[in-house]
Amino acid sequence: MATLSPELDRQTRDHHGPLSAIDTSDAMIYAADAWRPMFARLRAEAPVHFQPDSPFGGFWSVSRHADIQAVEARPDIFSSDMKYGGITVLDQVGEINRPQFIAADRPYHGEQRRVIAPAFGPSEMAKMAEAIRLRTAQLLDTLPIGEEFNWVERVSIPLTTDMLAILFDFPWADRHLLTFWSDIAGDIEAALNPETAAQTVQHGRDMLAYFDRLFAERKALPPTTDLISMMVHSESMGNMPDQERIGNLILLIVGGNDTTRNTMSGAVAAFDRYQDQWQKLIADPGKVAGAVPEIIRWQTPLAHMRRTCVADSEIAGQPVKKGDKIVMWYLSGNRDESVFPDAERLDIERPNARRHLAFGFGVHRCVGARLAELQIQILLEEMLKRQMTVRITGTPVHVVQCFVHGYSDLPATIERH
Ligand code: HEM
Repeated sequence: MATLSPELDRQTRDHHGPLSAIDTSDAMIYAADAWRPMFARLRAEAPVHFQPDSPFGGFWSVSRHADIQAVEARPDIFSSDMKYGGITVLDQVGEINRPQFIAADRPYHGEQRRVIAPAFGPSEMAKMAEAIRLRTAQLLDTLPIGEEFNWVERVSIPLTTDMLAILFDFPWADRHLLTFWSDIAGDIEAALNPETAAQTVQHGRDMLAYFDRLFAERKALPPTTDLISMMVHSESMGNMPDQERIGNLILLIVGGNDTTRNTMSGAVAAFDRYQDQWQKLIADPGKVAGAVPEIIRWQTPLAHMRRTCVADSEIAGQPVKKGDKIVMWYLSGNRDESVFPDAERLDIERPNARRHLAFGFGVHRCVGARLAELQIQILLEEMLKRQMTVRITGTPVHVVQCFVHGYSDLPATIERH
């Protein structure tokens, strides 16, 4: 696990320093898995907290569940639009940023969302479930028993990639590219660093060239139910400039990748820590579907989303000004004890787990939520069928980022129960 600098260690551990010293965007806090006390203090003492000079510029941190919902419920005041900087603490500028409906307001947002939403409907999900289950079962059967391996590399990454490849009907032999591009597009630290920024741009160009070809191929074929085909043949997306269509496709790759991957890793980390909860699933696998929202709450694979104020307003009585950057910390909202008692604990029977904010809230709430839940559910069911209990047998390595919240290395060993 990463270690904190002495100053950051003092701030995150003893909480008696000045509130102004807290910078929630510091990636090292997440790399060291040291965010819990920081957000507990903010929720208690400064739920709408201003950090004037982070590497990403000044921004407000909103840390309570109710206040995050209140911000998301007012999209006309708190904009997602890329022209103001978009949806992460990093302002989205530069040539690889394409228009995406996640980083847009109405009416554009709604028009684009409606094109792809049917691909995630119940009947499509039922069709995909079979392919996902088959692939999940095949992969689990390749894993060693009683021998340590990196769960992220052997399970979370390939299963997520395969899920996306199935959704897009992406050329199977090239599917590793989905992971590669998603990692680059989602890495806001790399985009900030001048040494790696140029490389990021080059990879973005390669990706665009690949998708240009794929779009042209699918357009020449009759429509099918894969997502790329739906996009090129739809009235609303079919005639849009390539840049925009590609932007929305990138959104689907990035949106589905780090998130599902890190939930699959978070699931085994959580069950290793709360083994009584895994025992409950062994005793009654019928409880798996109900456990999934709680696992997603516990992990919260995207730590935040950001909005920009387009008019002077207030959040929980705190005035905020036009142009201010508002960062909503889902990671914190999902540990808010006023909504989730004993919030740190994984409780697969938590009655209100579905109130978690990991998928966001309001008009932008994750369109892929059902697919992600399905993939996690199938993974757990197939593990239980094979009597696989996963133990975390080494030190986890956390992602060095304040946006994606997850693991790059999770040393795990499978035992038969
Ligand atoms: C556990 C897994 C996932 C988590 C935690 C997650 C989280 C999120 C969050 C936080 C948002 C933004 C919500 C907001 O701004 O209020 C979002 C939006 C979105 N997600 Fe997911 N996501 C997951 C899986 C997926 C998958 C599998 C896909 C598709 C393959 C996907 C596609 C999208 C899209 C297209 C949007 C934009 C929706 C809009 O702006 O209307 N996500 N997701």
